[in-house]
Amino acid sequence: MEFEHVLIAGAGQMGAGIAQVVAGSGRRVSLYDAAPGATERGLATMRKSLEKLAEKGGADPDEALARVTAVDDLVPADLLIEAVIEDAAVKHDLFRRADETLPESAVLASNTSSIPITSLAAGTGRPDRVIGMHFFNPVPVLKLVEVIRAVQTSDETATAITKLAEDLGKVPAEANDFPGFVSNRILMPFINEAAYALMEGVAEPESIDTIAKLGFAHPMGPLALADLIGLDTCVAIMEVLHDGLGNPKYAPCPLLRQYVQAGRLGRKSGQGFYSYT
Ligand code: 3HC
Repeated sequence: MEFEHVLIAGAGQMGAGIAQVVAGSGRRVSLYDAAPGATERGLATMRKSLEKLAEKGGADPDEALARVTAVDDLVPADLLIEAVIEDAAVKHDLFRRADETLPESAVLASNTSSIPITSLAAGTGRPDRVIGMHFFNPVPVLKLVEVIRAVQTSDETATAITKLAEDLGKVPAEANDFPGFVSNRILMPFINEAAYALMEGVAEPESIDTIAKLGFAHPMGPLALADLIGLDTCVAIMEVLHDGLGNPKYAPCPLLRQYVQAGRLGRKSGQGFYSYT
């Protein structure tokens, strides 16, 4: 399986980052997003990141961007990498449409943080060629790709996607398709517990984050990280863990829910646990 032309669906922070690393590997990229103006914003994000990397000897931003075309609908390609909103109905619909549009030989990959790959695969006519390819934010910087095998994923698909991840300069780690996979099963309860510590008045946000940064050598504290990921995404992932594993320990912290209700979604809305204005 060769992936010369990759269709990326979703031009938000994850989709733009994925498009950037795929284009940086010399492949042709089509970037699709249903929201008006989203692909333009995605291309601007990519340019900013490529310029930062070029200062440190990275590739010429214009050269990488020349391989990316914004498209206003799904187009045939060798591989789809989907990074749309973390909503099961939206993802299922996208996979159904991609199954109709992309050639039978193409692989359909999802960057979902937590939605079961097995259920996405079951909604297509090519379940053996559906897989999870989970990148980490900021995608151009972080090395991990969690490769998630659905129950139906073939060895051939898993091998080809693992090889692609390596070719993108990433380190693949395989996981099976359980709620939250490995990464979010560990990360989200950590963030959720930090939100409880804040809610219960154990410490202020700065203290909680300093303890994680200096005490555990994390590059950023859990509350700052939640702001980077998006508090709405954190709640959505906790709900998947809660529903899928059936254990009350995964219930989203009420403070997280309350911030989301107030529109305090983190960096993308200008305010979360911290203010970004
Ligand atoms: N593109 C290019 N370069 C970037 C960049 C980007 N998008 N973001 C940061 N950088 C570069 C900076 O230019 C800087 O380069 P320099 O060292 O040469 O000056 C370097 O990365 C470090 O950045 P900063 O100095 O701004 O700040 P930090 O040292 O704190 O690094 C960080 C920023 C890379 C975000 C780091 O704090 C970090 O790794 N944080 C943890 C992030 C994390 O855990 N992500 C996973 C989230 S979970 C997820 O995505 C999965 C989902 O399912 C929820």
